[in-house]
Parts: sequence; structure tokens; C-alpha cells
Amino acid sequence: MPIPSKTFWIETFGCQMNVHDSERVAGTLSARGYTPVERMEDAGLILFNTCSIRDKAAQKVFSRLSQYKALHREGRVFGVLGCVAQQEGEALFRRAPHVSLVAGSASYPRLPELLARLEAGEHRVTGLDPASEEAFETELTRRDHPFRAWLTIIEGCDKHCAYCIVPYTRGGERSRASAAILREARMLADTGYTEIQLLGQNVNSYRDPSPAGLSFAELLAAVAETPGLKRVRYTTSHPRDFSAEIVRVMGDHPTLCDHVHLPSQSGSDEVLRRMRREYTRAEYLEKIALIRGCRRPLAITTDLIVGFPGENERDFEQTMSLIEEVHYSGTFIFQYSPRPHTEAGAWGETEAVPDAVKIERLMALQRRQQEIQAADNQAWVGRPVEVMIEAYQTKLAQWSGRASSNRVVNFSGDGRVEATAPGALPVYRPLRPGEYAWVRILRAGANSLVGEQIAAPPAANA
Ligand code: 5AD
Ligand code: SF4
Repeated sequence: MPIPSKTFWIETFGCQMNVHDSERVAGTLSARGYTPVERMEDAGLILFNTCSIRDKAAQKVFSRLSQYKALHREGRVFGVLGCVAQQEGEALFRRAPHVSLVAGSASYPRLPELLARLEAGEHRVTGLDPASEEAFETELTRRDHPFRAWLTIIEGCDKHCAYCIVPYTRGGERSRASAAILREARMLADTGYTEIQLLGQNVNSYRDPSPAGLSFAELLAAVAETPGLKRVRYTTSHPRDFSAEIVRVMGDHPTLCDHVHLPSQSGSDEVLRRMRREYTRAEYLEKIALIRGCRRPLAITTDLIVGFPGENERDFEQTMSLIEEVHYSGTFIFQYSPRPHTEAGAWGETEAVPDAVKIERLMALQRRQQEIQAADNQAWVGRPVEVMIEAYQTKLAQWSGRASSNRVVNFSGDGRVEATAPGALPVYRPLRPGEYAWVRILRAGANSLVGEQIAAPPAANA
């Protein structure tokens, strides 16, 4: 059954990489004459871009797929993209027979060809390349966020973390040429974006495939120098590949935001070894010391997994003591979920940690982390911070946005009156999402800072 009309709808699950992949897929579709529609029911082609990092995420995809089966009877064409597509492969057609396309992210460079086959009426089209050589370059990328632009610099992952399905679902590392990245950054700045977030599963192992041969730190510096950009963020880092050079470049370029996300996963050497993280707790802490040594203070956030097979009370206490020692400004804590195609997934029930223990450990870590954040955030009271405004919170009657450190800041304010030129009439600049405001912090909670707008940046922070 060919695609009934050149309209599409795409629903995204999972991480920012996935959100941005959907923007690139949408761009590819638009370049082929497809139009996006607001409601799934109106689309000829319905795509789910999926996540399989934990079992729950993968299950959600199957429940969404069965929920909309009826639309297939009306002639709509369904496709499953991303990590669940790669994880399940052709087996997905058996579980969800109304699906016509199954394609993992390593096959996106072949999307035009896969689409052509769907358009010709083929019903079982697959893109399950284990790992392509090339990164996914699009003629066109749709950008859904009005003032923060994501930009992929490296796809896939070459690590072998025992718990992680990503190297299987996304394939090996493919870095994009630095010239293409820098061209895209300039284009984004020219169209008015002031914040860019560089994306990759492990951005630190970026290797420029072109003769320019930039390292990640060099690329970061080059992006930071793009005229018009005010904030550049990057995620995710891997402690093994995170270098002193990155910290130096961050210190030298104020456009690089005051934030490093450095997943530790565990504070126990034994668990780290079994996870195949390729670093010890002491080595991880050396990287933390590098970041703390930056010439301006940087916020550090992390990911932690509780209940990895074999994790005992002593191991868990090590993770607890790690958050005490580092004083993270934010943590994402997950219960271990066994995944297919992973080393630990094949261990079966041996040494599995009971769910009740996982939950207990997760809650204990979260509780302590909240106390740490609440105490540390007090240091911000009385200080000025620059905020990129994201939204107006009608309920709180406050604006909401983020500091360079990625902390959420809520504040009251209604714009400012600014002198333009000597002798000219001053102008009133209202606040708007995407713009920046200076805010003095009045109160601090565990998860946000609250303040009031101030007229101008204080000289010391200008
Ligand atoms: N179970 C639980 N959490 C996981 N993560 C990755 N794989 C798993 C898994 N099998 C977490 C890691 C990673 C984050 C994106 O998701 O903490 O950093
Ligand atoms: Fe989910 Fe990982 Fe795939 Fe992102 S890369 S969509 S987190 S499985």
C-alpha cells in the first residue's frame, strides 16, 4: 500500500540525540516534498522515533503502536525509527504487523532510498545497517525549538559499557567533518539562534575526519567563536576521554556554558570495573579536580545507575560518598534495567539486585542529593546571574529560564528601559522567551533559584 498523501507526523521518545534526529528526519522528508501535519490522524506517513535505553521506554513504543493500529486500516503507513527499530530488527514486523518501515539511526543516510521504496508500495522496508561509515548529513534540518538549536557532531559509540544498548542500536562512532559543523553553527547564528547544544553519545571522542583534523577541544573553541552565539553547550562527556584541554578551552571562551555533564554511573571501583567503564573512582575524581580547577566555576551534573548486578551495600555506600564528595549540582539516577544485546543483559538473574532494593537505593540517593543541592544553592542568594528566558509561568506570575550553569531560574520582571544613542529617546524592551535578562537571586531551593530582574549586568560580570 503506497503512502496515501505526502504528509507526515513524527513522535519522538528518548534523549536529545533522538529529538534532534527527528528534526533531521523531518528535514529530509521536507526536502522530498512532504509536509508536516499537526495531528497524527491527518498524516499519510506516521513515524515513531524510539528509545530503548531502559525496558520501560521500549514498552511505551509498543503500547503507542498498538493504540493507533486502526489508522493502518484506513491506509496510513507506519514506520518505526531509532533504537527500538534497531534493537528488534525484522522481529518488529511480527510484533506490530501494521508497520512498514523499520530503520535504525545508522541507516538514516539511506532514508531517501527507503522512502522511495515505501512510496512504491513496498510493505516490509528495513534499514538495519549495523554501522554506516558516514555521518548523517541532511540538506535540510527542521528546527522545532525556537531559540535553542541542537547540532550533532558525532554519532554512535565505540565504548563497551556492560549495561548499555546504545553501541548496538546506534552503531560505531562517526564524526562529522568540522567544516560542515562550523557551517551549520554559522547558519544557525545567522538565523538568530544564540544558543547551540553540540550532541553526541560521547562528544569527547570526536575526531574530525577531514584534513583539518580538529580535536573535540579545538572544535569547541571554533564553535564558541562563531559570531552571534552567546551560549554553547555540549553533551555527553565520557570521563575516560574528558581532557584538561577541554577545561582550558572552556576557561578561555565565556560563550562555553558553565556546565559539564560527566556521567559517573557508580562510586564503587568494583561496580565500575564490572560495568567496563574504563576508569576507577580515583581517576574519575581526577577529572572532577580538573573541572574544579577551571578559571571560572563550572556546575557538574551526572548520571548514576543503582542496582547493577552484584551491587552490594558497600558498593552503594561508595556511590553515596561520591555524591557527598563531588557536590553535583544535579543528578539523573536510574534503576538498572537489563537490556538485550548487552553483556550484562546476558548474565540473567545471577547477582540481580531485587527491585525493592533498587528503589530504596534510588530514593536514598535522591534524598541526599536534594539536601546537597538545597544547601549549595544558598551560595547564589544575593548574586546576579544572566538568564536565558524560556517561558512565562502564568501560575507563578514569573518568568522562567536557565543560567549558563543550566540551573533553573524563576524571576519577576517586566522588561527594561534602555538608552539607545546619546540624545535619542530611550526604548522599552519587553521580556520575551529566547532573550536574556540579568537577575538578582533572592531565594534558593534544591531545584531552582528565584530572583528579580535587575537593570544591567554588574560590571564584574559583564
Ligand atoms: N539501565 C539503567 N540505566 C541505564 N542507562 C544506560 N543504560 C541503562 C540501563 N541498562 C543510563 C546511564 C546513561 C543514561 C543515559 O542512561 O546512566 O548515562
Ligand atoms: Fe534512548 Fe539511548 Fe537511543 Fe537516546 S541513544 S534514544 S537514550 S537508547
